[in-house]
Amino acid sequence: MDRYVITGKQRLEGRVRTSGAKNASLPLMAASLLAEGRTILVGVPRLTDIINMAEVLMNLGCRIEFKNNELMLDTSSLVEWTVSEELMRKMRASNLILGPMIAKNGRVKISRPGGCAIGTRPMDQHIKGLKELGVTIQERHGYIEARAEKLRGGEVYLDVPSVGATENIMMAAVLAEGTTVIRNAAREPEIVDLQNLLNKMGAKVRGAGTHVIRIDGVRKLYSTEHTVIPDRIEAGTHMIAAVMTGGDILVENVIPEHISPIVAKLRQGGAEVVPNGDSVRVKHSGRFKALDLKTLAYPGFPTDLQPQFLALLTTAEGTSIVTETIFENRFQHVAELIRMGAKITIEGRTAIISGVPTLEGAFVEATDLRAGAALFLSALAAEEGTVLEKVDHIDRGYENLEEKYRALGAKLQRVV
Ligand code: UD1
Repeated sequence: MDRYVITGKQRLEGRVRTSGAKNASLPLMAASLLAEGRTILVGVPRLTDIINMAEVLMNLGCRIEFKNNELMLDTSSLVEWTVSEELMRKMRASNLILGPMIAKNGRVKISRPGGCAIGTRPMDQHIKGLKELGVTIQERHGYIEARAEKLRGGEVYLDVPSVGATENIMMAAVLAEGTTVIRNAAREPEIVDLQNLLNKMGAKVRGAGTHVIRIDGVRKLYSTEHTVIPDRIEAGTHMIAAVMTGGDILVENVIPEHISPIVAKLRQGGAEVVPNGDSVRVKHSGRFKALDLKTLAYPGFPTDLQPQFLALLTTAEGTSIVTETIFENRFQHVAELIRMGAKITIEGRTAIISGVPTLEGAFVEATDLRAGAALFLSALAAEEGTVLEKVDHIDRGYENLEEKYRALGAKLQRVV
């Protein structure tokens, strides 16, 4: 795996454009399985996660073209219905094909995703929801096999508002006979984007963005074109970078409502945050103020920005408390931050951070995508040089990271 060599303490300044959202693109790609004909997705980021999902779909028989962030998916001739363990290991989110494949194809088999660096990642809510729609599910030898002669609408209550389960059930229900109601649905913006694509295809979905989603099944869905929403996690990462480097960054291509939890927290710590249309300017000088933070489902503070924000709090003035309520093991960046001079203790799902004046460069390792982003930001802010290992994790979620940060004034080099 590659590494970054980063020279810290460079003030970042300028403008940076946020790419399309990875976590919106993945379910939209899966949803293309439902259409008769082609789906065109505009603004899809070129990331390893996207390439891996494309590989999963191509294995099922889809024809895919990817040029200039425009993805064409032709799913008219599916030939396969199984996702191998090898592919599943590369691409956890390929579990999102369950719903659309069962709706379109009547059967699907995926290797059950294992745990990962941040938690056990169960699928019980996906399975429970699909069963409500008349799907028979067998779990054997590490595979989940789903079959349905005919899908019928049902009432689904999710015990936890899972993003993936909500998406899978929506995608199965659009072609079911009758009406499906999902209660305690996840409310993330990526779910609203999925609803918008499905409705453009001819589906009848309403309520995405609230806790109750209603889907009236239709017989067929058709070709369409759709532009992916901007990546709120990428935007949040750039906003934190501005504060950590005492910089001044205009982050372009944002939907202000989607980033409101991060705007609120950055302002609370003393940063200047000025939204203007579809961009936001973040400026900071001096020391950030310590604060408490708890991750929650949207519109709460996103777990996918917790590592980056925690990195910012390591040099805040005072003591901060960060509580992770979504994933049980999402503090892997902490041990690495301690190597950089941070003072942090972990008690269960809570991290207590005593702010130090500055971080110091060190040899550190990215353990997963967002932990990697947190260490990347820390290296930019630290005294002297940092070697950040295993940056391939970061490639899963940040498009053209080096180019974007070099343009802002960062000094970094990728070593292959
Ligand atoms: C999605 C995002 C991921 C983000 C997460 C939470 C994608 C591709 N990934 O992941 O980046 O961190 O939302 O915002 O969009 N759970 C169950 N049973 C289930 C499913 C989930 O108990 O069947 C639990 C999980 O363990 C976790 C919580 O629900 O504690 C949230 O997980 P979920 O919303 O499903 O996350 P993903 O969709 O996998």
